[in-house]
Amino acid sequence: MNAVTDLHPDSQNLDLRNWWMPFTHNRYFKAKPRLITKAKGAYYELADGRRVFDCLSGLWCSPLGHSHPTVVKAVQTQVETLDFSPSFQMGHPAAFALASRIAALAGRPNDSVFFVNSGSEAVDTALKIAVAYHRLRGDAARTRIIGRERGYHGVGLGGISVGGIVANRKMFAPLMVPGVDHLPHTWNPAQMAFSKGEPDWGAHLAEDLERIVALHDASTIAAVIVEPMQGSTGVIVPPKGYLKRLREICTKHGILLIFDEVITGFGRLGTPFAGSYFGVEADLNTFAKAVNNATVPLGGVIVREDIQQAFMSGPAHAIEFFHGYTYSGHPLAVAAAHATLDVMRDEKLIERAAALAPVLEKAVHSLQGEPHVTDVRNIGLASAIELAPYAGQPGLKAIKVFENALNDGQMPRFSGDILALAPPFISTETQVTDMVEGIRRALRATPATV
Ligand SMILES: Cc1ncc(COP(=O)(O)O)c(C=O)c1O
Repeated sequence: MNAVTDLHPDSQNLDLRNWWMPFTHNRYFKAKPRLITKAKGAYYELADGRRVFDCLSGLWCSPLGHSHPTVVKAVQTQVETLDFSPSFQMGHPAAFALASRIAALAGRPNDSVFFVNSGSEAVDTALKIAVAYHRLRGDAARTRIIGRERGYHGVGLGGISVGGIVANRKMFAPLMVPGVDHLPHTWNPAQMAFSKGEPDWGAHLAEDLERIVALHDASTIAAVIVEPMQGSTGVIVPPKGYLKRLREICTKHGILLIFDEVITGFGRLGTPFAGSYFGVEADLNTFAKAVNNATVPLGGVIVREDIQQAFMSGPAHAIEFFHGYTYSGHPLAVAAAHATLDVMRDEKLIERAAALAPVLEKAVHSLQGEPHVTDVRNIGLASAIELAPYAGQPGLKAIKVFENALNDGQMPRFSGDILALAPPFISTETQVTDMVEGIRRALRATPATV
């Protein structure tokens, strides 16, 4: 390729060697590449011109569908007006307005919002705030963080330490944050397979936090971090009453509760945040993804007012929190967020997600009894289908079903032997039911053995 075509490679003639792709089977992919070239509304267009339905809203992050004209316009205008603005010791108005807007949407108008660029950064920021908060209050021994098995909190060193997905952790043991312990995850197929919404069984698993507190002593524990609904590990829905009990135990022992709302924030459960869905308020909430429809990377942490105030004790000219990113509150990301929240409000998209939730529930549970399916789980506009793995080849079954689905015009997410479906909020009921019918055909087309 010459210099000019290097800048504009056409997908027929593409050298795939140099991009080491994230969370991807690079060798399998590059032998059979799946290239996306365009997106509009709820559909992606592949390099061969086929249109496929975006069954996971990107990576849980594009509830408005793609290239919504309001968001496109906002980012275009912003890049011409203020393309970048330093957020260390300077500020731009739209970022302040966005922080107020997010705090209000969370129903916590006096809380602070710290902007970052990703879910991973949001998690590491929340962990730092929790530990520093206790230290500032003279409780410096509270350093332990409690995560949960199967939790996904991104790929920062804090996030993998509190996370509970073995493959994301095992290579990096020496880099892990010390003093972390884990709650058990709550998925138990014998008790809850094919539950609709929150399973009836399992609230007692929250009591394990009392065991952990008894083991380490509350005086050493800074925070508990959980995803209200475990998304990336395959939509593990909290048992009825479980989160409420975690909240009670944290409060009793002076432990901060962090909800990692990177997936659930901004409407996925049909409420602005999962806290309001479950009626449980966390002390810190992380967010990213849907906040600005993923148009430009943006994440953040919502911080309870008094926690933020604990940082405000030194002289006023001193920096209170030695933390931040060059791109914190990036003007393009902020502009995309305002536009996204405008569209969510004007088109009533969170309400629409809530209205589509029972449509998805009914459709996806009709897959019970189809080949390979061992469990179906759902909550809000999110669902997962658990497949029986091929003997000795974990993960391969879901790849095969995924490939059949893609050929059928549906692009679900697969990880391990689980398929996840969380369509854009703009989807029609027919698109949701068609999506599930496409998955049904893909399941039927997938052989029982390889
Ligand atoms: C709950 C949760 N936390 C953190 C992250 C990490 O986000 P990012 O990939 O933007 O770093 C994710 C990503 O899926 C997530 O689901």
